[in-house]
Amino acid sequence: MKTIFLDETDSTNNYLKSHCNELCDQTTVTAQRQTAGKGRMGHSWADSSGMLPFSVLLKDPVEPQNISARVGLAVCETLENALLRKFSVKIKWPNDIILENHKVCGILCESVRFGECLNVICGIGVNISQSEDYFIGAGLPNAGSVLSLTGEVLDRSTLLEEISERVIFRSKMPFKECFEEYKSRVINLGREVKIIRKNTEKTAFAEDISENGCLICRDENGLFEVNSGEVSVRGKEGYI
Ligand code: BTN
Repeated sequence: MKTIFLDETDSTNNYLKSHCNELCDQTTVTAQRQTAGKGRMGHSWADSSGMLPFSVLLKDPVEPQNISARVGLAVCETLENALLRKFSVKIKWPNDIILENHKVCGILCESVRFGECLNVICGIGVNISQSEDYFIGAGLPNAGSVLSLTGEVLDRSTLLEEISERVIFRSKMPFKECFEEYKSRVINLGREVKIIRKNTEKTAFAEDISENGCLICRDENGLFEVNSGEVSVRGKEGYI
């Protein structure tokens, strides 16, 4: 595993996208500052000194279509271990990482094909040490950092190394083998949810996860599957 440390880049995902052909499988890149960090669904991802941004390059991973679920699981496991199992770390489907009911980490997986090879870029932004006031000032009341939510100080480089290793480990496993663990962490299951697409919003009951990672919901017309693509899922009344 190789790690590249940058002072500044627009986005660590973009960096790997443009350099993936000359980089080895399992390369991680991190930066002190991201000037144009990207979030899911075309949103931007704010930079701050307490946030650890990095991306891991995976060449031809097992089942690339649902890699983000396994990345989410890898982040949960690592954070829980780092916090000495005093806290449980959950997933708001599909892959927002939740600690003490706040989003503590976001994940954006992107892929680029080069000939026969599918390069998958797993972008991870962990909120390590921003203050509660920072999130309120930034208009992000549902987000928090490991420090603001638990009082624990985690070492950036140790976390970077441990999450990257765990992502690589999980990326080699078929989703089937991670399925029960992933499912047990999904906080929306058994709750009323709001499914938000660009201009539409629909309420349903989140019943289960399918074997390919879709959220299985029920409404008055019966069961239907929600694909993680361009959708955000929230609680009926609030964030979760
Ligand atoms: C989200 O929850 O919307 C996903 C956020 C992903 C942010 C990380 S930070 C490192 C990597 N580089 C980016 O531009 N985005 C991801």
